[in-house]
Amino acid sequence: MYELKKLSRVYPKGRGKVAALSGVDLEIPDGEFITVQGLTGHGKTTFLLMLGALDKPTSGKIIFDGKDLGAMPESQLVDVRAQNFGFIFQNYNLLPTLNAEENVEAALVPLGIPTAERRARSIAALTEVGLGDRVGHFPSEMSGGEQQRVAIARALVKEPKVILADEPTGNLDEVTSLEIVALMEKLWKQRGMTLVLVTHDTKVARRAPRTAVITKGKLTMRDNRAPKVITQGPPGAAKPAGAPKPA
Ligand SMILES: Nc1ncnc2c1ncn2[C@@H]1O[C@H](COP(=O)(O)OP(=O)(O)O)[C@@H](O)[C@H]1O
Ligand SMILES: [Mg+2]
Repeated sequence: MYELKKLSRVYPKGRGKVAALSGVDLEIPDGEFITVQGLTGHGKTTFLLMLGALDKPTSGKIIFDGKDLGAMPESQLVDVRAQNFGFIFQNYNLLPTLNAEENVEAALVPLGIPTAERRARSIAALTEVGLGDRVGHFPSEMSGGEQQRVAIARALVKEPKVILADEPTGNLDEVTSLEIVALMEKLWKQRGMTLVLVTHDTKVARRAPRTAVITKGKLTMRDNRAPKVITQGPPGAAKPAGAPKPA
């Protein structure tokens, strides 16, 4: 569970400053799937970096499971991240010199898990994302969609409480994008983890119950499950979408 209180992140820019996030108040309950939308440069990545404790607020608080992430020393944050947060990036961020299985295994090294168990869990995670027959392939031998599946397996293998995905389909064609989003949704449903997914695609964004819309660092929540209202005739004649048409 996240509690964000007046969370702000200001960066220096030239002689001035830019508020990448300003005054964000939000709660994210455990197990929720939220999407994040907004124009380029409006603060989406900054928001995700805060949730993943990869950056600290300049003011306000970000509390995860009762812990104030902004106030924790880096030595403790390393463990919090390794145990709780799985990251998925637009560029996959796989290590080119490691094969698929070794890339996934790398996520388990900081947790001090013995080698044999690391291998078994990595192969199981790759099988779960549909790459059971590619465990020995290197990133350069795989398509973009396959590389992103490896990255998903790497995020998943440590069984994190939260998956943070920053435009994970930004480099993929439409068909592959849909496959990747469907895979992430399936894993979210099966595992009950919190999923925060940044996307440019409104169709994808609306698959989640709520969307965080970030505009110039300010965040507003959009409820995607609210019935759409079609206004016909005089005010007050609003009907929910799908209501039978009058004969
Ligand atoms: N490390 C940084 N140093 C200075 N400015 C930054 C840094 N990271 C992001 N910014 C600025 O913060 C704003 C939000 O950036 P970002 O969160 O990356 O946006 P988005 O992911 O929505 O494209 C932009 O104006 C960007 O230039
Ligand atoms: Mg970004």
